Amino acid sequence: MAEPWATSAPRQALGIDLHIEPTGSGLRRGLTDALREAVRSGRLAPGTRLPSSRTLAVDLGIARNTVADSYADLVAEGWLTARQGSGTRVAERPVEAPRPPRTPARRTPGPLRHDLNPGSPDLASFPRTEWLRAARRALSAAPNDALGYGDPRGRPELRTALAGYLARARGVHADPERIVICSGFVHGLRLLGDALRRRGVRDIAVESYGLDAHWDVLTRAGLRTHPLPLDELGTDTGALDHLHLPPPGRRDASRPTAASGAARALSTSPPAPAQPAGRRTIGAALLTPAHQFPIGDPLHPDRRAAVVDWARRTGALILEDDYDGEFRYDRQPIGALQGLDPDRVVYLGTASKSLAPGLRLGWMVLPESVVAEVIEEKGPSDWSCGFLDQLTLAEFMNSGAYDRHLRSARLRYRRRRDQLVAALAERAPSVHATGIAAGLHAVLQLPPGTEQSVVRAAAWQRLGVVGLSTYRHPSASPSAPRPDALVVGYGTPPDHAWSGALDALCRVLP
Ligand SMILES: Cc1ncc(COP(=O)(O)O)c(C=O)c1O
Repeated sequence: MAEPWATSAPRQALGIDLHIEPTGSGLRRGLTDALREAVRSGRLAPGTRLPSSRTLAVDLGIARNTVADSYADLVAEGWLTARQGSGTRVAERPVEAPRPPRTPARRTPGPLRHDLNPGSPDLASFPRTEWLRAARRALSAAPNDALGYGDPRGRPELRTALAGYLARARGVHADPERIVICSGFVHGLRLLGDALRRRGVRDIAVESYGLDAHWDVLTRAGLRTHPLPLDELGTDTGALDHLHLPPPGRRDASRPTAASGAARALSTSPPAPAQPAGRRTIGAALLTPAHQFPIGDPLHPDRRAAVVDWARRTGALILEDDYDGEFRYDRQPIGALQGLDPDRVVYLGTASKSLAPGLRLGWMVLPESVVAEVIEEKGPSDWSCGFLDQLTLAEFMNSGAYDRHLRSARLRYRRRRDQLVAALAERAPSVHATGIAAGLHAVLQLPPGTEQSVVRAAAWQRLGVVGLSTYRHPSASPSAPRPDALVVGYGTPPDHAWSGALDALCRVLP
């Protein structure tokens, strides 16, 4: 007969789950071994109160004495303690700790003292109270079907809220039917990279400066990234027609292109033509038009028009990364490029700057012809973004809390930006900040030849900043300007640490 505990089903006793998988033979021995292993491995933490022998015996369907004997053995061995009034507990003794993961070599002499790395908003100012209120309201009102698998595009409540917000605040043509919720921008980019590859696209234009993590995502999807030229007006989208592409390589074998099943049924227009064999053309462009990352300028109006014109002529897609479009300080926000041609531009937004990157919430507004392809890429196993966060964000937006939060965040970051500019003027007059009309970071232009030494000095002061050269695409044209500069994320520190970080920054600047 099978041992009563020879199962991995959790045992519910006294409110704790004892997930025991006893080994060996004999009731007492098997239980003792299983409990010892759970303590030794740390699965049962020191101090954890175990169920009484009576409760566990009932739960396991064995004699109470067997459990009591097993507990007594483990007390004698020092794994458990038994005290009158406080029951049987896991002993406070060193357990075999899991081996720490290997960490890469440190680049700085210790943990950061001041963090001015770009990429994060002030996490301490996350609107916890308002978010909790929205979550409570959202969960109370959620229909039962929200707890099921649902629509692969995401919850309709959030898609509808986003459509209204994006149209109003960013000038996006947004129909909830064409919005897909994703786990942040990078998830959307991965889905789009795969969908482009399936369409037969092999080459995508990117900016000369950007995030290598994003280029990596595209490369993994099988696309080659080609940096656009950069000049004093910024990214030159006029060059899209004559970017020099190497001849097709033998490793360019494409994956199947046909969309299947449900995805095809959802498709309302034919997929874009595949790239003709033997000739390479750019099939898409990834841009940050409102606020070039990291340089900080908006795409020049002529070049906005030029890239849309190019996409219309060639059937290519533009992927618009609107990562911090909400934060513009000196004048009206620059509207989304997508507003110029919703059939050629995929708009990608994220809550990573406006709220917190840990939420992993992003959204895509897709041309009609692309919706089915992206759903096809998501496939039946990608249900990213839990319903509660989606409904909470919808409620947060509909209640006006999102607008209120953005208004106060904009004030906070604008104040910091002004303090940064004032501190530079006073303490480091040879350095001036550019790209500061928007966003949560500034580019500090340094005297020629000093970027590396300033980055080293910052590292020694345990001050987190990034040299602009880190963001340069490895194939960027040698003729593209290569300024010595620092990228400083003034949104990152919490309020109480901001002035100390600013002071530390000024001390390392020339
Ligand atoms: C240029 C750029 N795009 C997009 C994002 C947002 O990425 P995600 O939504 O995946 O967090 C960031 C965040 O730092 C960014 O710097």
